[in-house]
Amino acid sequence: MDLADLTRDLEALRAEALASIAAAPDVATLEALELEVLGKKGRLTGVLRGIGALPADDRPQVGAIANTVRVAIERALADRGSELRGSELTTRLAAEAVDVTTPGRPIRRGSRHPINETIAEIADIFGQFGFVVYEGPEIEDDVRNFQMLNIPPDHPARDLWDTLYVDVEGHLLRTHTSPGQIRVMHEERPPIRALLPGRCFRYEAIDASHASEFFQVEGLMVDEGTTMGDLKGLLDQFAKAMYGADKRTRFRPGYYPFTEPSVAFDVECVVCGGSGCPACSHTGWMTILGAGMVHPVVLQYGGLDPERYQGFAFGMGVERIANLRHSVGDLRLYMENDLRFLEQFR
Ligand code: PHE
Repeated sequence: MDLADLTRDLEALRAEALASIAAAPDVATLEALELEVLGKKGRLTGVLRGIGALPADDRPQVGAIANTVRVAIERALADRGSELRGSELTTRLAAEAVDVTTPGRPIRRGSRHPINETIAEIADIFGQFGFVVYEGPEIEDDVRNFQMLNIPPDHPARDLWDTLYVDVEGHLLRTHTSPGQIRVMHEERPPIRALLPGRCFRYEAIDASHASEFFQVEGLMVDEGTTMGDLKGLLDQFAKAMYGADKRTRFRPGYYPFTEPSVAFDVECVVCGGSGCPACSHTGWMTILGAGMVHPVVLQYGGLDPERYQGFAFGMGVERIANLRHSVGDLRLYMENDLRFLEQFR
């Protein structure tokens, strides 16, 4: 091994290393190459081991050549390294790029069910008259659903409510929201202004205008000096807010065991405006709720002295109110959860 051999080996190593570096496809290969050539046990060290066999005068020359080879290889490694890192970043950026011009996936937004919407609207109107929303249970007892409402067992008025009973003695699915009147009277002291929305149940053959489940909103006001005129004025305001300020309203005599006197409350037909059409059976009027002055017996069951307090109550079917509002002809639509129907109420 002489100076010429060593010089040749170093040049060969440089040429081979530079070629491999130029051809390295990725950073990992480059790092392996660096270790293989420049590492402690690398090939450059291997070649330089021959230096010991040279005459002392030749050694500095080989050292100088070895240094330029090392520098050349280091520079090549660094250049190729930044090239590869750069292109790897470019590739990643391209792969992960977000096309901000792509139209977004539409978000499917839900909407309130028309029955809930109608209840909210009713509560909003009565809220302006100071009525507060309460809720009673769907499973009621016979006592509150009937007896305390002046409907004793075996009273013929029970035929008005086709009742679904549950397996617990003395309990049933409430047939109306009126038992809520009793609950509120037991909980609150007059003046009482309560609104009781809720689901009710009756044993019915189901068709376009009958359902075994439906919603009612009950209203109850109890105070000293409450009159039927207050009831009439309130309901008239309600009808005008709901169906239009030009709508006329009227009371007709009615019958409920828990109110005396009792009335049916009519609004001018929202379809024909009062001239008569099939929707109002050619009467020009539509009945939207039942109402009356709370029967003294019911006040007593509610723990209130009928000599001191008077009250009125009303109860309306929410589906009927919604039907008239939105011209829906079939009750069953409210329960089928068909999006084609529900999406129209956004
Ligand atoms: N509860 C009655 C019904 O279901 C409606 C009503 C409520 C009537 C309050 C008068 C007073 O038909």
